[in-house]
Amino acid sequence: MLIIFGASGDLTARKLIPALFNLYKGGHLPEKFVVLGVSRSDLSDGEFRKKVVHESEYLKESVGKEANSFIETFANKLFYEDLGDDYDTNYHRLETRISDLNTKYGTDDNYIFYLSTPPSLYEVIAKNLSEEGLNNEEKGWKRLIVEKPFGYNLDSARKLNEGLHNYFQETQIYRIDHYLGKETVQNLLVTRFANSIFEPLWNRNYIHHVEITNAERVGVEKRGGYYDKSGALRDMFQNHLLQIVSLVVMEPPIGPGAEEIRNEKVKALKSLRKMTDEKTLFDNTIRAQYVSSVIDGEKVPGYREEEGVDPNSTTETYAAIKFFVDNWRWADVPFYVRTAKRMPTKVTEVVIHFKSPHHQIFKDSGMDSKDNKLIIRIQPDEGILIKFGVKVPGQGFKVERANLDFYYSSLVEQHVMEAYERLLLDAMQGDATLYARADEVEAAWEFVDPILEYWKNGKDVKTYGYSAGVWGPKNSDDLIDGNHMWRNPEE
Ligand code: BG6
Repeated sequence: MLIIFGASGDLTARKLIPALFNLYKGGHLPEKFVVLGVSRSDLSDGEFRKKVVHESEYLKESVGKEANSFIETFANKLFYEDLGDDYDTNYHRLETRISDLNTKYGTDDNYIFYLSTPPSLYEVIAKNLSEEGLNNEEKGWKRLIVEKPFGYNLDSARKLNEGLHNYFQETQIYRIDHYLGKETVQNLLVTRFANSIFEPLWNRNYIHHVEITNAERVGVEKRGGYYDKSGALRDMFQNHLLQIVSLVVMEPPIGPGAEEIRNEKVKALKSLRKMTDEKTLFDNTIRAQYVSSVIDGEKVPGYREEEGVDPNSTTETYAAIKFFVDNWRWADVPFYVRTAKRMPTKVTEVVIHFKSPHHQIFKDSGMDSKDNKLIIRIQPDEGILIKFGVKVPGQGFKVERANLDFYYSSLVEQHVMEAYERLLLDAMQGDATLYARADEVEAAWEFVDPILEYWKNGKDVKTYGYSAGVWGPKNSDDLIDGNHMWRNPEE
């Protein structure tokens, strides 16, 4: 049984129910399966089904041509319980409801509790569940899925981990990061460790620098209230981007198991060089906000004009960080990572820039040292692009740039699971590989905390402005060393 706390919220309708529906459609859910939505709204089972299934705009695409009876069978697996005002009472009633559903539908006392509430409620919910014995695995397993943000900084993340560990074992806790559910993020592991052609080059001897870009076209949409207290560093960098960094940086795990992979990721995160003095932080971090602009003849509000945002806010919608990784493999290789809203396009990609050959016999031929690149496109146009030089046919040795390009879409037609589908299925099967472990989350905060602190209280900290639809503030190019520049993905 899946019990969703915060079930009347946006995430349930937008992501969780469509993911469950697709899993059901694909025959991935056990026959005896029940979803119990829990929240503070006063809804009946029927009203809940209407909201998240029958009248949901998010399910339309998945429902497609499915017969009404099929949709009905799915909807009839959904139930709802109103928990009252504060998520701190009425758990005995909840326990009774769970156990009635369990008896009626034969779900074997196996429960996943999905916390999609404000993070301040996570511990309260865990405590109440434990008081009702709902963390007890004597009969059936009990798992807790926790949504992001996991903490607000290192201190709060540690406290949250400690709080949850009072009631649930670490092996029962699944911290979700939906980027890990993306096929192309997982493919980073396969690209590196299932092939013999990349890994020998994957180190400081051959790699000049690594660049990771995450760009979105949208602004903060209707989430100004949340976003203004968060900013790009907390919203995207601490979690999704550092997860990608850890997969690029990590050493080969001894096997594909959850602990084996996560042990290496933690080591990778711990090896990121922390920036502690103001000069280093000033030189290596840039934050900025989009300002009001006109795109395609239409006026787009600036960040400070968005609903829920303080008109004097310094919260960043653009963050670019340069850092180093202090270990044998990566010594002296700069990493450049940026994330932003209101960019020209939506794209996430990892670019491995290779060094030029030690001795360049064709250096006057048209190729230059910046031309060997491996581009891992995480989204959209998921795939891998290798840029290299080829000889132009004819006399002499004129070299031209060429692309070796692989698109996932060229693989045989196959339903690629959405991140939430994959992650929910993994949690049901007890596979925590794609979930963040406590020490992993803390290691990421350890790196981010000094930047947050500097941006909050440091001297000379600036919040630059950039127009919507451009690749960030002008001075962001200054972050990159030498004659290199950010790769702006239409290129
Ligand atoms: C979320 C952030 O975690 O990820 C959002 O809170 C962001 O601000 C979203 O828009 C991006 O996810 P994706 O999968 O669209 O890249």
